[in-house]
Amino acid sequence: MGMDKEKLAEACRAFVVDDDLLRETAAAFRRDMREGLAGGDSSTLRMLPSYVGLPTGAETGEFVALDFGGTNVCAAHILLKGNGDFEIIKRVARPLTEPGVYDYVGETAQAGELFDFVADMVDEAIERKRGTKFLLGHTFSFPSEQTNLYNARLVTWTKEFATQGVEGEIVNNLLKEALVRIGALNVEPVAVINDTVAVLLAAAYKQSSTYIGSIYATGHNTCYYEPYLGQAAQPMILNMESGGFGKLIPSKYDLRIDEASEKPGEQHLEKMVAGRYLGDLFGLALGDAFGADGAAYGFTSIDLSAIVEDEFLDRHVVQEVVRRKTGQEVTTAEAMRLQELAEAVIARSARLVTATFCGVLWQIAGKGEIEKQHIAVDGSVYEKMPLIQEHVSRALYVILGEDSAKIDIVLENVGSLLGAAIAASMAGEES
Ligand code: BGC
Repeated sequence: MGMDKEKLAEACRAFVVDDDLLRETAAAFRRDMREGLAGGDSSTLRMLPSYVGLPTGAETGEFVALDFGGTNVCAAHILLKGNGDFEIIKRVARPLTEPGVYDYVGETAQAGELFDFVADMVDEAIERKRGTKFLLGHTFSFPSEQTNLYNARLVTWTKEFATQGVEGEIVNNLLKEALVRIGALNVEPVAVINDTVAVLLAAAYKQSSTYIGSIYATGHNTCYYEPYLGQAAQPMILNMESGGFGKLIPSKYDLRIDEASEKPGEQHLEKMVAGRYLGDLFGLALGDAFGADGAAYGFTSIDLSAIVEDEFLDRHVVQEVVRRKTGQEVTTAEAMRLQELAEAVIARSARLVTATFCGVLWQIAGKGEIEKQHIAVDGSVYEKMPLIQEHVSRALYVILGEDSAKIDIVLENVGSLLGAAIAASMAGEES
């Protein structure tokens, strides 16, 4: 089976977000935010209140932080020293699936076993000490409806998680029960925040003028500090669940990914931009060019990185990755075209994410000018995927022009843990 050049060019075109579409997307995102804030059901953004504002930077003390939101869970004992300074005293990280050994996220997994596993990691992080009381902050990176900082109910799993008995439940109750089962009564969960909120708290702890936090990793989402909540509540951070933004026109590859996913019809933007899906998008487009319609070959975003990074004249890395995944041989010239396809997938991801950032910047600015500020971003795609940061900067300039110079995007890569500790401290101050 050879590679059809025309089909490949067509696949590349399916991922193009030109400058006009980029600007329109930013405007559409802002409109969707406003519709979401107004209530009603026309918005595709959840705009979930987090019941936490921005930290002062003066938060101090020892806390337990739990980061639960991807294939790896992490628990830590953290000392907040104030003024943006902190120390991780002990950190424990483990995957939630170990092929052939255990799987806490598949359809057959039960809430109890999942939370027992997590509680045990928490206990290990405090070295199974029982004499000291610890407040625990929990970064739980799934859409949750909150009524206060503790009380977060999982609306729906995302990122292909499927453990039974968690959807619809108050996640901290599940954690608390598991901590009781293992005898760790001295650990008291007091706060649940989304990982985007954690990133924003962590970055704002270190520097002021930070109002937007985003995760650009296996999953994708953005939160921001909304100063004009009107009569509804005091100003606070809103978790937009922007991965659900659904006012984009999907390509045929997006539709396929959606159909084959755990939650068809949900998380439209996330399925176009997040690390969990980038490899599959590339694979489906490649399948088209090979005439193997519908094949995705199991490419990962790590494969995608390897493909775009290959600068060898013969492009043997690309050839090797393609051979390993598809069993097909490609020539050097074809390998170069496949690099263009990979870049198109990556560029679209970066441009769409940036458009949403600009929508938020406009919303925060209201009728005024965009203020000089930082946007805090965490995640493997932003941190490690080649070309992403470059495309983000370019897209910022296309949308904001000169104002893009006011925006400093900072990488906040301990945000999930640090933010959880800060939230625990802020919850402690309130009670
Ligand atoms: C979840 C969000 C989360 C994001 C990044 C999405 O799948 O719905 O709550 O913030 O992933 O982890």
